[in-house]
Amino acid sequence: MSANFSFQSLAQCSQTKARAGVFMTPHGPVETPRFMPVGTLANVKTVTPEQLRNTGAQMILSNTYHLHLQPGESIVAGGGGLHKFMGWNGPMLTDSGGFQVFSLSEMRKISEEGVTFRSPHDGQIIHLTPERSIEIQNTLGADVIMAFDECPPYPATRQDVEVATQRTYRWLQRCIAFHQRSNQALFGIVQGGVYLDLRIQAAQALANLDLPGYAIGGVSVGEPPELMAQIVRTTAPLLPPEKPRYLMGVGTYREMAIAIACGVDLFDCVIPTRWARHGTAIVQGERWNLKNAKFREDYTPLDETCPCYACQNFSRAYISHLVRSQEILAYTLLSIHNITELIRFTQQIREAILSDRFAEEFAQWLTAENVEY
Ligand code: GUN
Ligand code: ZN
Repeated sequence: MSANFSFQSLAQCSQTKARAGVFMTPHGPVETPRFMPVGTLANVKTVTPEQLRNTGAQMILSNTYHLHLQPGESIVAGGGGLHKFMGWNGPMLTDSGGFQVFSLSEMRKISEEGVTFRSPHDGQIIHLTPERSIEIQNTLGADVIMAFDECPPYPATRQDVEVATQRTYRWLQRCIAFHQRSNQALFGIVQGGVYLDLRIQAAQALANLDLPGYAIGGVSVGEPPELMAQIVRTTAPLLPPEKPRYLMGVGTYREMAIAIACGVDLFDCVIPTRWARHGTAIVQGERWNLKNAKFREDYTPLDETCPCYACQNFSRAYISHLVRSQEILAYTLLSIHNITELIRFTQQIREAILSDRFAEEFAQWLTAENVEY
């Protein structure tokens, strides 16, 4: 690993594969396991960087696909790079754009060279290749950048997933060849859909490449929870123990707890901010609709154990009023609260691992059935 990055495991659970560690980046440490909030367009929606820092956020995400379309990476570079442009001086990660092209754009065409699609803004034809994705991510300047990958849909045939997984591996080799900066860590992504033999093959091939970190992609795309658990249980242990492991697009209590028990360190998900904008709070792993009549005259905080700004200063009744009135402050307060809850959950797991209480204290979250949200 380059001198700018290191991963240190501080403690290992005696009953599961869970570990607590520190991932060091040029913009500071990330204590793991940890949830990372998503700031797609160089902002975490409705939350200022100062408010975000106070949720306990350490590393946050942004997206190559979105920033390339708007405002364009040269505008970001002109503003001093992603950190300075958006006022976040902590660790940052950019996703490569592969996944977003597949989930968001129409008229995409995929070949060995890369992906061609139409900009949803102006209809312009855009080519994204492994080299182009890395070039854009180099220009944006996040600490961690992701390999350009192909995430097959669910369900997909074994044949289709095999083609996508092997192409993802060739694309990774092109990303590695193109990426020359030591101040940005390139993470590889394991694909393979729900086919465990393809997952094993991909994980072993990636593990041989000595990358600074590894992600598991292609989950949370509609497969049943037991299948996701099986994929993570099979894949994570094959990735080098001395490197950080990141499960992409996952952020429910249960999914995170199970993945942490398999040795995963990092997570991201749009759920806390997306739900906030729908008037939904995450409380102790449950999903609450603040428009519910029972909150109208409930003057207690959302979660009396939560240290966040929303819970310290406002009641359920007040936030319910803001949601019903569609006041923007509702979305800010709910985003602050929801992000705090998810980070606090991973932080509590971290502390439990450090004192080897994880398996007992989090037993209720370690089975794959009963998905709360
Ligand atoms: N975000 C959630 N899943 C994925 C994935 O499979 N690949 C990428 N690049 N990003 C993701
Ligand atoms: Zn709160």
